[in-house]
Amino acid sequence: MPNKTTWNSSLLIGDPQVDKQHEELFNTWDELKSALENKDTFALEGLRVKFLKYAVFHFSEEEALMETYRYPSSQLEHHQKEHADFLLKLESYSSELEKFSQYLENWLIHHVKNEDGKIGTWIKDNPL
Ligand SMILES: [Fe+2]
Ligand SMILES: [Fe+2]
Repeated sequence: MPNKTTWNSSLLIGDPQVDKQHEELFNTWDELKSALENKDTFALEGLRVKFLKYAVFHFSEEEALMETYRYPSSQLEHHQKEHADFLLKLESYSSELEKFSQYLENWLIHHVKNEDGKIGTWIKDNPL
């Protein structure tokens, strides 16, 4: 499958819950890409909604985790803004799913490896 974004260990941040949720997001995105390839419009709409709902859930879990571990407030605010901007952008692509998927390509991998990766490092260095 040419567009498959294989989940791999370089995306792990070291928190089992967050890592599981990221894997679920990537799997849903893979399904969405398959539906795009197959021009399965019925499945696409369901997958778009599924991705968005799961992203909202995941972001709130991740933000709660940052608060629990007393993540520095300026970094927390920056991270929350990235999540909020991302959701707004996805909403704006609700009828352009090729763009929706392309945006994920750029944003999701970069955000998980960089911004979410910092949470993993913080948790390791600042245990409760
Ligand atoms: Fe995040
Ligand atoms: Fe995340």
